[in-house]
Amino acid sequence: MERIRPTKHADFIVRHAAPFNGGPPLAALVDSPITPEELFYVRNHAPVPEIDATAFRLSVGGLVERSLELSLDDLKREFEFRRVEATLQCAGNRRDELIAVREIPGEVPWGAEAIGNARWGGVALRDVLAAAGVSDDAKHAAFVGRDRAQKGSQTFPFGGSIPIEKANDSDVLLAYEMNGKPLPATHGYPLRVVVPGYIGARSVKWVSEIRVQATPSDNYYQRKSYKLFPPTVSAETVDWDHGLMLGEVGPTAVLCRIDGGVPAKAGPVGLAGYAMGAGGTEVDGVEVSIDGGAIWHPAKLGSGEHGTWYLWRIVVELTAGEHEIIVRVHGSGSHQPDHAATGWNFKGYMNTAWHRTLLQVDSRT
Ligand code: MTE
Repeated sequence: MERIRPTKHADFIVRHAAPFNGGPPLAALVDSPITPEELFYVRNHAPVPEIDATAFRLSVGGLVERSLELSLDDLKREFEFRRVEATLQCAGNRRDELIAVREIPGEVPWGAEAIGNARWGGVALRDVLAAAGVSDDAKHAAFVGRDRAQKGSQTFPFGGSIPIEKANDSDVLLAYEMNGKPLPATHGYPLRVVVPGYIGARSVKWVSEIRVQATPSDNYYQRKSYKLFPPTVSAETVDWDHGLMLGEVGPTAVLCRIDGGVPAKAGPVGLAGYAMGAGGTEVDGVEVSIDGGAIWHPAKLGSGEHGTWYLWRIVVELTAGEHEIIVRVHGSGSHQPDHAATGWNFKGYMNTAWHRTLLQVDSRT
């Protein structure tokens, strides 16, 4: 097993030991709007590369006027430091609800813990692109990481791309800090991309190459994986040239904690969770039903902004018996299916359905 575990919380749930994939216990996620590193989920497709930060260079090329080779010191010296609070969420977050509909072999069986919100520090991607001078025919910024994934007999780096308009947003970072400290090895040391509002896969870790190009990245993780297919398509029938290349995250709202644990005790019970708008847009409200969707109650929203999650809380009055608790989000473009079955796909991505929890409530005596 890789030496990652020691930096993580004792109760971290390891979903896959090598490469390391895991996340925090769900209830701990809502303790604080900023996720401490020890609770921040890890999604790796390959072993963490060992990188000598002093020898590290970022190359910027493709459809640019001048190619660049930048050391970490160059980045720090030549570009303005920016801090951005942003939530990263894996496209496979909440896959377990899709697996409950129909099996999804070969993918990490995430619960709702593949999400975290951090303060990232670094330089704006657009400042670096501006220094290179992006050509008019540029349409995508493609990133290549230093890790080496293996598929059959082939090894290749992780990579992906974002449209050039997104790359020019001031909050897309080349980050070398996470929560005020140097980026930890497992989260991309010494440099990673942070793309707020996009699936985590586009926030390429250990990024060493940026290519500006007319087409999306042809990396496996852009051209094949992280694509959305209809429920009728399977691993056997898939045509990888079809399917939707994933970009923006979908809307989501999740119940993470039931105060006092389960089974709950009849009476007032505090519920808490997180919510995020489609593409990271602001959340207008979160609603909770304790009777399977007949009546909806507005939750109290914590603070948030474009690109971040919002934590929410509510106290509900529960009677003894079994309750279906449902949570949903309101925000622009945040339409959610009411059941996970509607969005089933064989890779198990983008479960944006209303979040349902069956809760047993015991009488107080
Ligand atoms: N970058 C590289 N180089 N290799 C990877 O395996 N995983 C991606 C993304 N960047 C990955 C990567 C995926 S799928 C996600 S969800 C996020 O990193 C997870 O970031 P984290 O591990 O810092 O939480």
